[in-house]
Amino acid sequence: MCGIVGYVGEKNAQDFLISGLKRLEYRGYDSAGIVTLAEDGEATLIRAKGKISNLEEKMAKAKRSDKTGIGHTRWATHGEPSERNAHPHKAGKIYLVHNGIIENYKELKNELKDFDFQSETDTEVLAALIASFYKDGEHPLLNAVVQALKLAKGTYGIAVVSENNPDEIVVARAGSPLVIGVGHDETFVASDASALVGHTKQAIYLNDGEVARVTKNSVEIKTLNAEPVSAKVEEIETNLAAIQKGGYEHFLLKEIMEQPESLTETLRGRIHKEEGTVRLGGPGLSEAELRKIKHLVIVGCGTAYHAGLLAGYYIEQFTPEITIETVIASEYRYRHAYIPKDAVALIVSQSGETADTLACLREIKKQGIKTIGIVNAIGSTIAREVDGGTYVHVGPEISVASTKAFTSQVIAMVMFGLTIAQAKGVRSSMLKPYIDEIAVLPEEIGKVLEEATEPVKRIADKYKTYEHAIYLGRDTAYPTAMEGALKLKEISYVDANAYAFGELKHGPLALIDDRFFEVAFLPKGDLYEKAISNVQEVLARGGKMIVVTNRDCDLAVEDVVKITTDIEIFAPILMNLASQLLAYYMTTAKGYNVDQPRNLAKSVTVE
Ligand code: AGP
Repeated sequence: MCGIVGYVGEKNAQDFLISGLKRLEYRGYDSAGIVTLAEDGEATLIRAKGKISNLEEKMAKAKRSDKTGIGHTRWATHGEPSERNAHPHKAGKIYLVHNGIIENYKELKNELKDFDFQSETDTEVLAALIASFYKDGEHPLLNAVVQALKLAKGTYGIAVVSENNPDEIVVARAGSPLVIGVGHDETFVASDASALVGHTKQAIYLNDGEVARVTKNSVEIKTLNAEPVSAKVEEIETNLAAIQKGGYEHFLLKEIMEQPESLTETLRGRIHKEEGTVRLGGPGLSEAELRKIKHLVIVGCGTAYHAGLLAGYYIEQFTPEITIETVIASEYRYRHAYIPKDAVALIVSQSGETADTLACLREIKKQGIKTIGIVNAIGSTIAREVDGGTYVHVGPEISVASTKAFTSQVIAMVMFGLTIAQAKGVRSSMLKPYIDEIAVLPEEIGKVLEEATEPVKRIADKYKTYEHAIYLGRDTAYPTAMEGALKLKEISYVDANAYAFGELKHGPLALIDDRFFEVAFLPKGDLYEKAISNVQEVLARGGKMIVVTNRDCDLAVEDVVKITTDIEIFAPILMNLASQLLAYYMTTAKGYNVDQPRNLAKSVTVE
């Protein structure tokens, strides 16, 4: 996520801005910038693509002793990572840094015909809009910001400065955090309290719809309707690590728990429940091109591969005459597989940098096959080399074990599949159940996380000494079992493997003894009874079964994790939350490093 910092006071603004941005590096970014103002209003704007060290190199040649300034680390959403797309954005005399997405930026841009836009960003449009209202009068900057924000739709956390008012910063928030740090003859602003630790313990957290004008010794807060707001000063948590993890002990738990929000970002502007349609602009395929697709190749590694498997099961349920092949990138890149010309390849990667997946992409492109990225990291290599794509927009995924990205990758691919089905004329009544369930999935995820956490924590403690586990599922619960087993093995080092229920009697059943515990995913539906007979086979051999199910379960098993939901089609997505939590709590019970497991990297950029 992007980061904002700002300073107005008696000390050197550049020093605070750089140190503050470094505190926010953990949030992930691809470019950074600062602007400072001298007492006479002279501005020094420095921006750089890549790491903050690149910004520091440039700053060394433009050292200033200015006492006012704002800074930003950008996680690209509109426009690829570059210096010209980096914040702060300049418009006339004003400079703006922005977190969030201005959804009506195109309409606003059309109204600003006289402005010479330099970037592809929605932020620059907001800056130009503010500048268009920036006129003399009392608190001109505050008034210009208020008038502009009344026209902007979307989410924002912003900080604005102007050459004409070098002793103040205007900040505002709607949907993206903004905190004001109160010092002695100095005031700080930031998108995340971690930037303030060590500078002040007094913080004022802006609420949505509030705007503030701050100077070195004053904070004036109002609503956009000019109602004054009394500032509530709170004590800042001074544990930096705790702040950066959003108060959670580990990034993994934070990323598991933020899936309602991250999936909401994936769906934003794409799923239209009332119309019963899905619209994706990113793949860039016409209706005719979508209609012609007869074959999907879905490529990924690890969790991305599992997401492709699960999405493939769903897509073939509602898309006629289409064959789907989900492949492991490291294998497929060396195969001599023929891909029919009426195929499209989905390239799935959270980081967008996985070497095997990238190599596979390049091999597939050589065959002239259209490639669509299902990627999280904006502007990553895979995102830039595919023909089109759908960003999952889950924000940085810091923990090595992928969780929120998996959920959003599956749904993003299902949405792509729905656009194919729509183009092929599949009855809307056939697609409506999928769209209706997807629309409420974020909320259901929140409920399940709340319901399942304690039961799963208890189960994890009960099985924390086990070194072997078998995960079992059938149909869409089978890729779910595979993903669950990977989660457990990669952070708790338990030898966990997944099998299709129907495969048990072809070998794995021989494994069952008291060294193992089993996790069985039993979604409500036609296959439930068939899976029960498999469960009985395991129990008959002394299996210690944990059942994860969204229906009543009267099985004589050790433990049941009940998923209370009306969701049926995508119940496996909700069941996977239990796997994520089980892996997390087993690992913490063992005292292992949750976020950086041994031998693994977040992005495998080497073969
Ligand atoms: C999943 O938890 C692992 N971290 C790993 O399997 C990962 O999914 C795989 O390396 C693919 O990464 P990518 O999505 O960034 O390409």
